[in-house]
Amino acid sequence: MRRGAIVRILGLGIVITILVGLVAVLIPWLPDPASKQMERIEDVYWFATIICIGIFALVMSVLIYSVITFRAAPEDESDGPSIHGNTSLEIIWTVVPAVLVIAIGVVSAVVLSQNGDAGKNPMTVRVFAQQFSWRFEYPGEKNLKSNKLVMPLDRNITFDFESADVIHSFWIPAMGQKQDVVPGIDTSIVITPTRTGRFPLVCTELCGLGHATMRSPVNVVSQADFDKWVKEQQGGGGKDADGAAVFSSAGCADCHAFTPANSNGEIGPNLDNVAADAEKAGEAPEAYIKESIVDPNKVIANGYAKDVMPGDFGKSLSAKEIDALVTYLAAGKQ
Ligand code: CUA
Repeated sequence: MRRGAIVRILGLGIVITILVGLVAVLIPWLPDPASKQMERIEDVYWFATIICIGIFALVMSVLIYSVITFRAAPEDESDGPSIHGNTSLEIIWTVVPAVLVIAIGVVSAVVLSQNGDAGKNPMTVRVFAQQFSWRFEYPGEKNLKSNKLVMPLDRNITFDFESADVIHSFWIPAMGQKQDVVPGIDTSIVITPTRTGRFPLVCTELCGLGHATMRSPVNVVSQADFDKWVKEQQGGGGKDADGAAVFSSAGCADCHAFTPANSNGEIGPNLDNVAADAEKAGEAPEAYIKESIVDPNKVIANGYAKDVMPGDFGKSLSAKEIDALVTYLAAGKQ
């Protein structure tokens, strides 16, 4: 090959590398990492991206050079020279991609194993997914229950998942780790938050009418603030169940509008009108509300569909919690 050709191909390659590199660097493709696991995942992305940019620049520069230099002159209808393979070229374009793909595989496997390692003394959070809300339980904090996920900074946290109905998927984009939540299968992941702040948690598996509303803010706080939050949450533990607290922790607000709770969900009936609905069904408000919580398919309010509200609140809530919820809802708007 002439030296001029090599110089031109190299020049093209450098220009293409810079242009594609700018596209990779200047566009924020991924959120800022907020966990150790996400940092490692980002490293794998960069490793693969740099290899891709190199191969892309090589292929495109040779291609563009060839298209320009070896194009046929107008009216030239002669055949090109016949070529019978090139053994050394073929060895090169087999071995190089094989090495690169194996390298990406090895790096991914190492990160996968590091990301699955909870290390010593991890904190456990049990996650319950149910159409259409998330609930959390902290076994290390006297089984503290919450409908908000709060995580202490720099702690290895193991999440154990359980689904009450269909397949959901747990994803905090800034923290990378993502896990399907499948009924009947125990799944878990590890997350180590590295930044304090609020991050969205989203369900990424189409799970029914309210799938798009199945999101919840996640709070990452210092260990001291986390301990304080736990104390505050446990403060009310000894007293009788509080209807407003049950309404919030059971996820009712995600689907129902109810003025005293400041909620405006539209998946299920507006509970400000629950007394009128009870009258329509010919029942006393308390009895109607209790029945609708425990056996939601029995009476379906006008315009709403069957099987949308989970049927197992009778099991997942205690009798005290259900009574508190009934009292709270029956008291209505005033
Ligand atoms: Cu739960 Cu989508």
